[in-house]
Amino acid sequence: MVARNTERLATLKKEINSSENNIHYISCDVSDYNQCKATFDIAKEEFGTIDLAILNAGLGLNSQLSIPHIDTAHNTIGVNYFGIVNFGHILFPYFKKMGKGEFVGVSSMADVRGFEGSGIYCSSKAAVSVYLESARTEMRHYGVRVMTIKPGFVDTNMTKKNKHPMPFIMNAPKAAALMYKAINGKKNSYSFPWQTRLGSYLLSVIPDSFYDYLATKRGQVGQ
Ligand SMILES: NC(=O)c1ccc[n+]([C@@H]2O[C@H](COP(=O)([O-])OP(=O)(O)OC[C@H]3O[C@@H](n4cnc5c(N)ncnc54)[C@H](OP(=O)(O)O)[C@@H]3O)[C@@H](O)[C@H]2O)c1
Repeated sequence: MVARNTERLATLKKEINSSENNIHYISCDVSDYNQCKATFDIAKEEFGTIDLAILNAGLGLNSQLSIPHIDTAHNTIGVNYFGIVNFGHILFPYFKKMGKGEFVGVSSMADVRGFEGSGIYCSSKAAVSVYLESARTEMRHYGVRVMTIKPGFVDTNMTKKNKHPMPFIMNAPKAAALMYKAINGKKNSYSFPWQTRLGSYLLSVIPDSFYDYLATKRGQVGQ
């Protein structure tokens, strides 16, 4: 397990440790390439090989673009996009050499359109989704699986601050169980729940002018 807050990692380890689970945690800021490389080296040393990596770290800061937002942009792209690209840079050559490996990236259905108040977040997730898609097409030649997960709204610290409506919001344990099943099921991409997947699909196919009209009517939407 990798995150910055070691106290929370230690508590989580206590919660899930069992005789079958050999849990290690490493403090790492995923936006910092050197820390990612050090984390990879430690994990390889501890476990011998790395078969599967789930890249889930994310920042979901709101961003009114009429308010200065350069720090929000750098931090969000640093974590959401470069957090995945840093590990891609390290793991893809490693998996390619092994002729196997699984790389799972958590994006969002907020990648589908630019929602009001979430321009930085949406664009970071659009970048992640496209990066993962390219990686999937490239890495399949080497026996490496790249999977994209796109959750709808999940009740976590990230969404607690949201004041806008969050249709079909799901509790975190249920979302985690669905993601676990999809990863084990060897899917290449997984979006849930289906209602949000359908809504995202419709948003993706409507003309820009119609989206602009809907967005003006609706106001802030997306995480
Ligand atoms: N909740 C939703 O509705 C929703 C919807 C779609 C997609 N997602 C995506 O799902 C993923 C998880 O989000 P969440 O809802 O569980 O958010 P969360 O409760 O805020 O958790 C974010 C996690 O990312 C870690 N993190 C943040 N910055 C980091 C950094 N620089 N380096 C390493 N770890 C970092 C945090 O740990 P530390 O603070 O200890 O580092 C924390 O464990 C994100 O990629 C998010 O974009 C969430």
